[in-house]
Amino acid sequence: MIVEMRDICKSFGANEVLRHVNFSLKGGEICALLGENGAGKSTLMNILGGVLPADSGEILLNGSTVTFETPAESLGAGIAFIHQELNLINDLPIYENMFIGRELVGRNGLLDADRMRHETQLVFDRMGLDLDPKTMVRDLDASYKQIVEISRALLMKVSLIIMDEPTSSLTEPEIDRVFEMIRTLRDQGVGIVFISHKLKEVMQICDRYTILRDGNMVAEGNVSDVTTDDLARFMVGHDIRTSALQRERNISREVLRTEHLTDEKSFRDISFSVGAGEILGVTGLLGDGRTELFQAIFGAGSEYSGQVYFEGRPVKLRNTTQALDYGIGYLPRNRKENGILKDMNILENGTIVSWPLISKMGFINRKKQNQEFDEQVKSLRIKMENKSDPISSLSGGNQQKVVLAKWLCTQPKLLILDNPTQGVDVGAKEEIYDIILKLAQNDVAIVVLSSESQEIVRVCDRTLVMYHGALHGELKGTAMNEHNIMRLATGTSLN
Ligand SMILES: Nc1ncnc2c1ncn2[C@@H]1O[C@H](COP(=O)(O)OP(=O)(O)OP(=O)(O)O)[C@@H](O)[C@H]1O
Ligand SMILES: [Mg+2]
Repeated sequence: MIVEMRDICKSFGANEVLRHVNFSLKGGEICALLGENGAGKSTLMNILGGVLPADSGEILLNGSTVTFETPAESLGAGIAFIHQELNLINDLPIYENMFIGRELVGRNGLLDADRMRHETQLVFDRMGLDLDPKTMVRDLDASYKQIVEISRALLMKVSLIIMDEPTSSLTEPEIDRVFEMIRTLRDQGVGIVFISHKLKEVMQICDRYTILRDGNMVAEGNVSDVTTDDLARFMVGHDIRTSALQRERNISREVLRTEHLTDEKSFRDISFSVGAGEILGVTGLLGDGRTELFQAIFGAGSEYSGQVYFEGRPVKLRNTTQALDYGIGYLPRNRKENGILKDMNILENGTIVSWPLISKMGFINRKKQNQEFDEQVKSLRIKMENKSDPISSLSGGNQQKVVLAKWLCTQPKLLILDNPTQGVDVGAKEEIYDIILKLAQNDVAIVVLSSESQEIVRVCDRTLVMYHGALHGELKGTAMNEHNIMRLATGTSLN
């Protein structure tokens, strides 16, 4: 199959998002669609996927013009779309989610649950996944949901798959497995559009690239002809820093210490500490328990035994308001599920936790709220039209920056950041790293939870590596490299 999008234009109000964009893809080819946050990648694919109408331009399949008014029509033409924001139904088991809209029916006219389970199991087996198809989607964490979405597209017999940041919450071994399956599909003649901010993955898996900048197509070619630095430069229009970040830090008094933290299921016997001005990494693979551990510490997770000390005093946080009173900020992973209030606008989403700090006697100091948020918008370069627009009008990466901004406005003593750069483009990533470093220089203790070992090595002073709920090792200095992190994360010891 050959897909061509010709001369596509799209505006939202006065915001011209796509300007005369051409994009094409052949079966048997993996094409990266790249660009900064807000460049128009998801919008372009939403048009191909029948989610949004274009203002002008045309789509051709094998040379004939088509129009997709709904996602179902696009799917009917053989195009599957894995969305950036997950799209599963929580109240159904995995296998039913895998077959939504094209359920298998048995001879008796009833749903053929056995066959749906079986076919789901076959895909999971191929992916080497230990996941029961009967599990309710509600009980899965976001990484597994992402895997289910990918598996669902793999199960459909389609000729083109659009993957909008499919790996943003996966770890390296899972990514490798997904890639293996993508390559198999390519070899069977399926065309794949791969949207990602992880340029290393693009080099690994893609044959071609197309780059959007501010709604214009600015470059395309073969991946084998370029480096990640080239791609980054095409995206942002200038060179991106790749040198090491400043390491000298003045780590003073202890801010957080834990002793033997254990819950019943996700983590056990966790003891560590982090000091003012220190950036501590915590990493591991899927199921390592780090997210659950810090949720529990922050008072938003499960019950645990053991003791947490904050500034030397034993504490047990019961809820997030209490955590805020102490000066503890926590950016949860997966903004769609935990970070964003859909019914509120951009400004409200970007400031809501700091309301106690900017309000006096119950009144919100609007001027201060606006000022502080404007500063964050500038320093994080959040791309938006008006602060009063709904948060959902922002591109994925820009939503992430808004959620981060709200924690930066709180002036915390301890900041826990879970997957802080998820879905953020290469340039903005560096800006976020600079902000983390600046906070550390101002004596904030920072914990960065991340599954990207590159990120850990780049920003952290020291890292803990977890494996199946236990601390499996600690690395710093030159020993804190990607190789050692991966060894510890997979349960291997270093010598
Ligand atoms: N429903 C909408 N209403 C108004 N504006 C929108 C809407 N959807 C997208 N936009 C705007 O269109 C522009 C492009 O957004 P898009 O989601 O295509 O970016 P993207 O390249 O996918 O970015 P990211 O890497 O952050 O996901 C942004 O300026 C965004 O604010
Ligand atoms: Mg997007």
